Amino acid sequence: MPLALVAVGFVVVALLANSGALADDVNLWPMPVSVSRGSHTLYLSRDFALKTDGSKLSGESGILKDGFERMVELVRESRAIEGHVKTSGNVLAGLHVVVSSSDDALYYGVDESYKLSIPASGDPIYGHIEAASVYGALHAFQTFSQLCNLNFKTRTVELHAAPWDIHDQPRFSYRGLLIDTSRHYQPLSTIKKVIDAMAYSKLNVLHWHIVDRESFPIEIPSYPKLWNGAYSYYERYTVADAQEVVQYAGIRGINVLAEIDVPGHATSWGIGYPSLLPSAKCQEPLDVSNEFTFKVIDGILADFSKVFKFKFVHLGGDEVDTSCWVTSPHVKKWLVNHKMNESEAYKYFVLRAQSIAAKHGYEPINWEETFNNFGNELNPKTVVHNWLGGGVAPKVVAAGLRCIVSNQDKWYLDHLDTTWQEFYMNEPLTNISIPKQQKLIIGGEVCMWGETVDASNIEQTIWPRAAAAAERLWTPLEKLANDPKLVTARLARFRCLLNRRGVAAAPVSAPGRGAPLGKGSCLEQ
Ligand SMILES: *[C@@H]1O[C@H](CO)[C@@H](O)[C@H](O)[C@H]1NC(C)=O
Ligand SMILES: *[C@@H]1O[C@H](CO)[C@@H](O)[C@H](O)[C@H]1NC(C)=O
Repeated sequence: MPLALVAVGFVVVALLANSGALADDVNLWPMPVSVSRGSHTLYLSRDFALKTDGSKLSGESGILKDGFERMVELVRESRAIEGHVKTSGNVLAGLHVVVSSSDDALYYGVDESYKLSIPASGDPIYGHIEAASVYGALHAFQTFSQLCNLNFKTRTVELHAAPWDIHDQPRFSYRGLLIDTSRHYQPLSTIKKVIDAMAYSKLNVLHWHIVDRESFPIEIPSYPKLWNGAYSYYERYTVADAQEVVQYAGIRGINVLAEIDVPGHATSWGIGYPSLLPSAKCQEPLDVSNEFTFKVIDGILADFSKVFKFKFVHLGGDEVDTSCWVTSPHVKKWLVNHKMNESEAYKYFVLRAQSIAAKHGYEPINWEETFNNFGNELNPKTVVHNWLGGGVAPKVVAAGLRCIVSNQDKWYLDHLDTTWQEFYMNEPLTNISIPKQQKLIIGGEVCMWGETVDASNIEQTIWPRAAAAAERLWTPLEKLANDPKLVTARLARFRCLLNRRGVAAAPVSAPGRGAPLGKGSCLEQ
């Protein structure tokens, strides 16, 4: 019996590898659910237009129209303007977009599916996009943009291999990238460039690890001294800046997940409000014995709820060393009075922060230590964020909780020696076979911790490795290559596309954020 299973396994692997190889000459990243194509070349009309049948959504929020215009800018590469436009039967006049929902709200789990078809003939020829939501249509624009090529001879934008027929939808509803603006401040312009490239790779959650031990860059109107913990006068985000990030991401179909990492990663809070820390000498975790600690958390989450409209908030909860609670006399006394030891106080802190978050309408996400220590007492709506390694996700979903996978051995971008191949092969459903449990894995996230990245190098540390994970999270399992070699050329093409679009993505041949190894074409680096 085991032998037969092994043999079947081999056949499946061989077929999958084969289909991966066949698809590799399709210039799309991430690979859609299904793709068919022909052999005709079309030219984009100089007046390439968006047609929506007067559907009201294009007028109201402008998301569709703005997304279309951004896409046209991208494919023209600002050089295809005065090219001679053909007028014979091979001009693509525009895209006809039908979105069935008139609700433009970007909520968790919004339908991101789309169909994109480009006929090879017609008078005039229009491509067709059908999507349930405007966010599916934005994904279709991204896919379309990757089918376009500038012809340097005619100065027109060409689309090869029409007719195209593409059906697509993501495998996971949560496809995240973490940035950390505490270890190094990241300017707004840098954050926006990260968001742009997330949209190109169809990632949909920017996890903003805003504050930590090292600095507290964001304005909190309820407690205005908190951002005294910023590194410098300039390294700060106003409420308006945060709103701008949320808005910029939102019209690109990307939610922003805000985090405060309590109680362990919060020393910088004490610069403005020293009484939040156990003592001047013993500074973390936050003082569990002080009611003011929870008032401040309440104030932060109240202020967050006006800006960060995603249904989740991240409450951290990792790496809590409770020794300061035991060695600070007033905290120790409080523990005794409340009949708690320090691990019970850790649980008390996390659960109380969770209920404050719930009061402000949020569902909580917590790092996995909370689950590992008191998983059966977490709010049942908790999403457990794995990071320590493999093996936890199966336990989380067996306990009936949702999980986001970020195992640090494969999906931490600050691990510079982790290769894109390892990012690509990291499967969130490893060792989870029961469909009901698989559904509880809402997705995964790659984490760009900030110790060694600032505006000078964050992009090449994130890309192209985050894009490798993006395909893992988007593309159906059976279409993913079993051997990353089969997708190297396609990823290299995507990384060159990112470069052409102004994203400082690193060569695919270099580990981490390495430089090109020698002279040669972008495609060969
Ligand atoms: C704290 O108390 C709990 C429950 O009484 C117990 O299971 C645990 O071992 C204690 N932890 C420590 C560090 O004393
Ligand atoms: C999956 O299960 C196998 C067998 O128990 C184990 O060796 C492996 O480490 C597990 N992998 C992960 C990522 O949990």
